[in-house]
Amino acid sequence: TWTAGSIVEEQVALIRERVGSKRAICGLSGGVDSAVAAALVNEAVGSQLTCVYVDHGLMRTGETEQVEKDFVAATGAQLKVVDASERFLNALAGVTDPEEKRKIIGREFIRVFEQAQAEIIAEAGSDGEDVAFLVQGTLYPDVVESGGGTGTANIKSHHNVGGLPEDLEFELVEPLRQLFKDEVRMVGQELGLPDEIVQRQPFPGPGLGIRIIGEVTRERLDLLRQADAIAREELTAAGLDRDIWQCPVVLLADVRSVGVQGDGRTYGHPVVLRPVSSEDAMTADWSRLPYDVLATISNRITNEVRDINRVTLDVTSKPPGTIEWE
Ligand code: XMP
Repeated sequence: TWTAGSIVEEQVALIRERVGSKRAICGLSGGVDSAVAAALVNEAVGSQLTCVYVDHGLMRTGETEQVEKDFVAATGAQLKVVDASERFLNALAGVTDPEEKRKIIGREFIRVFEQAQAEIIAEAGSDGEDVAFLVQGTLYPDVVESGGGTGTANIKSHHNVGGLPEDLEFELVEPLRQLFKDEVRMVGQELGLPDEIVQRQPFPGPGLGIRIIGEVTRERLDLLRQADAIAREELTAAGLDRDIWQCPVVLLADVRSVGVQGDGRTYGHPVVLRPVSSEDAMTADWSRLPYDVLATISNRITNEVRDINRVTLDVTSKPPGTIEWE
């Protein structure tokens, strides 16, 4: 029988043997899988690993800081942060089609990541020959899904931050390949990662870019971030984090609605709360959140976020609705 401790021990030994004295790179997305994979490899080969975090500017409040500060504090890993938000916003300017947004974000991500790789290889001094390994947080269900081709994964062009160009010259290190999500969380805990990282709910690679219905702009991102932070804060305060799978907050940026806020009539935007319960995200049901929690979220968002004057609740199961709106 295994324990988190025995998995760590076994994987650390395997990684050491495989990587030897060469160097490895690991892309961090802010999610559990890449964080735990990186922490494992860091435990095994420490300074031979460089982590890369591409900040696409589409993360929620506090998430980039979580990678920059908390992950580094917990692991001592070397981290290269690339602030590419300007570049992503420029590439997304004028784009409203969901698939188009996903493609652009995926494409830009790969370009920025490749450039960061090249810089790391250059900094490593040699012609880069000793930077030989790329760490990926592939889990057992990912392995099964890509081998079994269940079909549904193709409904949207699923872009996982950390996703790779086709012509990679790296050998892959995938220390989580035999694990399920709950085991990955236990391993992360064992490695001393904070709960905020280990227990994080799923969040899509394209980030808030696919939660703004309409064009993605800096102002709209700021609005959505504020509303999202309030919803997350209240769900956590109500002790509901473990009960819900995730709760996207969606900004209907191209829709306006009339309201009365403060001392007058406003003409702002609605947001949608999309709390869902699920086992694996393939199917989902809308979460029956307590009315008083919904009321608090609604009051706070409309009081605290200028330009949002209506909060609506998505009561659609999956299927027919997907979890995300785009
Ligand atoms: P849907 O919207 O298809 O989402 O019901 C199912 C689950 O996948 C997440 N999701 C993504 N995750 N890259 C990701 O890494 C993506 O492009 C992506 N799109 C959706 C979504 O948040 C939900 O958990």
